[in-house]
Amino acid sequence: MSNVLTDGTLAVTVNGLRFLNPFIIGSGPPSTNATIMNKAFAAGWGGVVAKTTSLTDTHVVNVQPRYGKLHSPAGDSIGFQNIELISDRPFEDWEDDFRKVKATYPDRILIGSIMESYSKPRWQELAQRTIAAGCDALELNFSCPHGHPETGMGAAMGQNPAMVEEVTGWVTEVAGGRPVWAKMTPNIADIRVPSRAARRGGATGVAAINTILSTIGINLKTLRPTPTVEGYSTFGGYSYRAVKPIALRMVGEIAMDQPDFAVSGIGGVTSSTDAIEFLLMGASTVQSCTGPMLQGFEMVTELGDGLAAFLRQHNFNTVQDAIGQSLKYFTTHHHLVELQAAKKAAKAAELANRDTEWGKSDIASETGSLVSSKE
Ligand SMILES: Cc1cc2nc3c(=O)[nH]c(=O)nc-3n(C[C@H](O)[C@H](O)[C@H](O)COP(=O)(O)O)c2cc1C
Repeated sequence: MSNVLTDGTLAVTVNGLRFLNPFIIGSGPPSTNATIMNKAFAAGWGGVVAKTTSLTDTHVVNVQPRYGKLHSPAGDSIGFQNIELISDRPFEDWEDDFRKVKATYPDRILIGSIMESYSKPRWQELAQRTIAAGCDALELNFSCPHGHPETGMGAAMGQNPAMVEEVTGWVTEVAGGRPVWAKMTPNIADIRVPSRAARRGGATGVAAINTILSTIGINLKTLRPTPTVEGYSTFGGYSYRAVKPIALRMVGEIAMDQPDFAVSGIGGVTSSTDAIEFLLMGASTVQSCTGPMLQGFEMVTELGDGLAAFLRQHNFNTVQDAIGQSLKYFTTHHHLVELQAAKKAAKAAELANRDTEWGKSDIASETGSLVSSKE
């Protein structure tokens, strides 16, 4: 493990929580139980968002196969699709796991991810028990796009700003001041709208993005969409490299809209370059889920070394100094046109200023470009 991951070089404090580094395992297979979460921490990750949990009587039945890959013509994996549901483990087992992980890695940040049906007592019980079992913060899953929306959960809530505000309010009422991040669905026209609703409900930040609703492919022999389960499929959630540009845009939109709101950036992070881009777009922490699934937990070593080198190169003393640095370079398309016209005019004036340039266009406009007051 690289020292920079744990020696404080890359530490960042978000909502009062000190992360030894800004790299967090996103909710999913790399955080499905205590053994795997401890492996992530052993490799050096600063935080883990546990696989989404619900109360034990929630009906969760997964199917197989449930993943699919998109390859580039050269054969690299560039996109990944899943039709996986939230955890199928009893919540009592999760409570044991949270305690075990926190006891083993007290200096790392453990975030419980929770999802429930539209019921105040259920959300509040789940939130309180998750915190009582040792989680430092909560992430509210308003965003899984497949399976759960059929029962009014996940993205079905995230696409309804009034519900996002109300449910976030239920949770923050009992969260005892712990940070609460609402995880946003990208399957919506304007991600700023549910983000603002989460804040009104008392969230201290958002995580963006969950997966993008997709179909990874069709088998041309059988005409069946994939992944195929008993001959059929369902739309799933798209992740990994291909989604990064969309995630970066959405993180930037939220950060520009609410500059003092914590954003945990997620979507397609596979290298330090990707992670740094999310920081520059305003994220204060960066999550990765499919990255460690396909590349292993050790990918965090390159994330740490690359970020440390980047900070040195730009004379940034801390990770905080880099956050949001690229946002000021976004403007409207209209303004881009104006900037380009101004640059062209300045160049024409500069050229006309030299004696060798006279005669290249008509003499009257050359003279005009040198007149200070237009009469
Ligand atoms: C197999 C799989 C299972 C996932 N399960 C969850 C989940 O239980 N809860 C959740 O909030 N997000 C879940 N996600 C979404 C990821 O946490 C993440 O938001 C998304 O995949 C985009 O990030 P990535 O490109 O780094 O994977 C899952 C993603 C994958 C690929």
